[in-house]
Parts: sequence; structure tokens; C-alpha cells
Amino acid sequence: MLNPGFANLQPYPFQKLSSLLVDSSPAAKIPIDLSLGEPKHPTPEFILDAIRDNLQGAGKYPPIKGDKPIRETIKSWLINRYALPADTIDPDINVLPVTGTREALFAIAHCVIDSQVNDPVVVTGNPFYQIYEGAGLLAGTSMWYVNTLEENGYLPDYSNVPGHIWERCQLLYICSPNNPTGMVMSQQEYELLFKLSDKYNFIIAADECYSEIYLDEKHPPLGILQAANTAGRRNFKNIIIFHSLSKRSNVPGMRSGFVAGDTVLLSKFYQYRTYHGCAMSPYIQEASIAAWSEESHVVQNRHLYREKFDAVLDILEPVMDIYRPQAGFYLWPKTPIDDVKFTRLMVDNENVTVLPGSFTSREVNGVNPGKNRIRIALVAPLEDCIIAAERIKNQINTI
Ligand SMILES: Cc1ncc(COP(=O)(O)O)c(C=O)c1O
Repeated sequence: MLNPGFANLQPYPFQKLSSLLVDSSPAAKIPIDLSLGEPKHPTPEFILDAIRDNLQGAGKYPPIKGDKPIRETIKSWLINRYALPADTIDPDINVLPVTGTREALFAIAHCVIDSQVNDPVVVTGNPFYQIYEGAGLLAGTSMWYVNTLEENGYLPDYSNVPGHIWERCQLLYICSPNNPTGMVMSQQEYELLFKLSDKYNFIIAADECYSEIYLDEKHPPLGILQAANTAGRRNFKNIIIFHSLSKRSNVPGMRSGFVAGDTVLLSKFYQYRTYHGCAMSPYIQEASIAAWSEESHVVQNRHLYREKFDAVLDILEPVMDIYRPQAGFYLWPKTPIDDVKFTRLMVDNENVTVLPGSFTSREVNGVNPGKNRIRIALVAPLEDCIIAAERIKNQINTI
């Protein structure tokens, strides 16, 4: 008597990593973990202060919709960040705070999928954040994976998805800036998706949780609402975006994000959440207002990541096939041998943990786009990232 989707769930990438390393004997060197995408820069004090100053809020049930001030704050942030006309976002209907994007990315599938209709499909890039797959499978759909390959600029090429799949597609998850490739979708790529969504009537769930971690300070990543507005689509039909404070403000434990977009979709998601019951606690709302209203800590955050990309790329570029991404905090290089073997060797010989690329993706038509790649999360302090890069270089030089 279980949801049949469980039968197809795969172990989470970090479960696979634990199994791989269960009998490892790490080298006697200080361990450096660059496998998990958990931000480790210090949480700004003003955000912690806002939590402390508002703890009395624990004494009341928060509304599912969030209080007006957080919705107003999110509206202002969106309007400024994406140069949107003020009347395109009504904070009462186009915005909902969520307790981190992870739960919302999962819940949206259950809100929108009609599993009674014609063998439904969820489409995602490949590699992908595994929540998209679990959400689709547990909502009763099949999955269609679009390979994210170097020859397509490290972004999924949606123009290759057959029409019969789009006909069955009810939900498309996109991730820009992309985890793990760090690349950002263009206006043209968004417009292709708008055309397809109009033709086949599917919903686009745009995971933008890395939108504020980018390498070129002068060129923030384009967002899908901005692309829609530029294309004259002010009602954001069939679009829902997912944003998070976890990476932007170094608060992964605070569990704070928001969704925004299509009025009809947002009203249904709100209704769904009145049952689902995930409301943001009042003190987290206050801390989130403080965080979304302040940009200098985010500028500083980007500066720290940029320093790490510069230093690590200097060390690794001469020894491996690696590129500088546009955004995010991951490197996605090729490995000189099988990615799983390489990962194991890195622990046994150098005590550095990375994530095998093939753990983040599925094999499609004989190709696993993560095979012979690793994901390196530059989350440790600069000095540790430099040591880890030197150790990776050592390992490559001994192969
Ligand atoms: C692509 C992607 N989406 C969403 C999330 C979830 O982030 P949070 O739930 O902290 O907002 C992550 C976390 O690593 C991620 O990598």
C-alpha cells in the first residue's frame, strides 16, 4: 500500500557517496569536504539579530501566505532585481514565502500534476537537482531527461525534445544558473520555452536559487520573469520561480525562500499549501525581510566566491579540462579517469571529498552527462579550497 513512485526513487547522490566511501581509508591529512553545496561563509550578524529580536513571534501561528511585510519586501526585491514594471507583481497574489526552495520545488509537482491524464511526464535537464525527479515520480509521472552537454554550452538543449514528449509534459523544471554547470539561460533560450509552453500548455518551474551568486558583478543572471517581461508576457502565464536566501545570504539552516509568478498558479499553490501547511515562522519572516532588503552582504559574498574561483582555476587549469562558470559556486571539470574511481582516490590519497558527476545525472541513450566529471563545491574557506586544488592536482599527476 505504498505510493508506486517509491519503486523508482534512486538513492540521493549523498547516499551514493556515503556508500562509495564507507570502507575508504582517508589519507592522514586534514579532511576537506567540497561535495555538499552547503554555503559556509558566515551568516551576517544583522540576520541573526533579526531572528533574536523577534523570537516572541514563536507564540503565534503564522499565516500560510506570510504577513504582508515579507510579501511587500519580496515584491520590491523582484522589481529592482529584474527591472519589472511595478504592476506586474501584486504582493497579495503573485508572491508566497516558502520554507526553502527544496520543499516548494517538491510540492509544486503535487499541486499541478494531473496523473489521470494521458501518461504525464515531467521534463528536467540532466544532471539535475534530485528533488525534481522525486517530485515527479511521487506525483505519478514518468521523467524525461534532457542532457546538459558541453556542446550545448552546458545547458539543456530543449529544441531536441520530441513533440510527443512535450504533448505529455505537464511540468518542466529548469535551473538557471545551473547546478552543477554554472551556466545561465539566455533570452533566446527562454523564448523557445515560452513558445513550447504556449503550444503544449505545460508549467515551467524555474529554480533560480543560485541567481545571486555570479562571477561578473556587472552582469547579474537573467531571470525568467525578466525574460518574460522583455518578451511582452506580463502575466507570466504558466511560470513559477523559486528563490532562496540559503546561498544568497548564507542561511541554509534558516529555510527561507519564496515563489512568485503566474496569478492562477500562485492562487492554486496557496490553496494547496493551506493543506500542506508549510508556513514561515514570524521570526524567520523578520530575518528574511532584513536579508532581502540588504545587498552589500551579497556583494561581499560574491567577492569571496570569485576569489576562490580565481585561485582554484589557476591551480587546476594546467592539469585538467575545466572552465570558469558564469554563476553558482561549483566547478564541473572532466576527470582523467572514471569519476567514481577518481572520487574514491581523492579521499584515499588526499582526503578531499568531491561529488562524482554521474551521481547527479542519469544515463540517456547511452550517455550519462555526469560521467567522467566531478562537482567541486567551493564552499570551504579560500585557504582550504587552495589546499584541495593542490591535492587534486597531485592526484592527477600520479594517474
Ligand atoms: C539547484 C538547487 N535547487 C534548490 C536547492 C534548495 O535550496 P534551499 O532549499 O536551501 O532553498 C538547492 C540546494 O542545494 C539546489 O542546489
